[in-house]
Amino acid sequence: MTRLDIFINRMVSQRACLDHAIAATAQLPGPVFELGLGNGRTYHHIAHHVTGRDVFVFERAVASHPDSTPPEGQLILGDVRDTLPEALTRFGPTVSLIHADLGGHSLEKNDAFARMISPLVEPLLAPGGLMVSSDRMYFDALEEQPLPDDAVPGRVFIYKK
Ligand SMILES: C[S@@+](CC[C@H](N)C(=O)[O-])C[C@H]1O[C@@H](n2cnc3c(N)ncnc32)[C@H](O)[C@@H]1O
Repeated sequence: MTRLDIFINRMVSQRACLDHAIAATAQLPGPVFELGLGNGRTYHHIAHHVTGRDVFVFERAVASHPDSTPPEGQLILGDVRDTLPEALTRFGPTVSLIHADLGGHSLEKNDAFARMISPLVEPLLAPGGLMVSSDRMYFDALEEQPLPDDAVPGRVFIYKK
């Protein structure tokens, strides 16, 4: 499999899982969190398709496409290791959907980081809430969910509270 194949599989899987998770959580009132803005492609997709819920974006350094930059009040700047605990104080366990795409090129580093932030993410979800992640997460009580048909196993993961 080439890097292009892997990239395409990741993009197709992200879109399939986000579309599935946005629809599956539509009845929950709590906010949606995007962890890792990057270029802003997945944020743009989420902001376009989520209605009636606030979308907050967590990013340490904004470098997104101008069309995909969240408004100031919806941007939570800083390292997620600091901002996720702060968000728990602010929002409590109310979040309907969390999407995380925080990784870089090293699978080993991505896995270590996913282990580190799993306990920071888990308490934020509302009952019935979903997390869509580009990396396998290490949760105590959230259950891994089957992927929608278009997603490629191993490229994205879905968890439910
Ligand atoms: C792969 S990019 C996200 C791409 C995005 N999903 C898109 O569609 O354009 C990862 C982003 O996560 C951010 N990030 C990585 N580690 C972080 C951390 N500890 N705290 C906050 N942001 C972080 C990086 O700055 C980068 O912008």
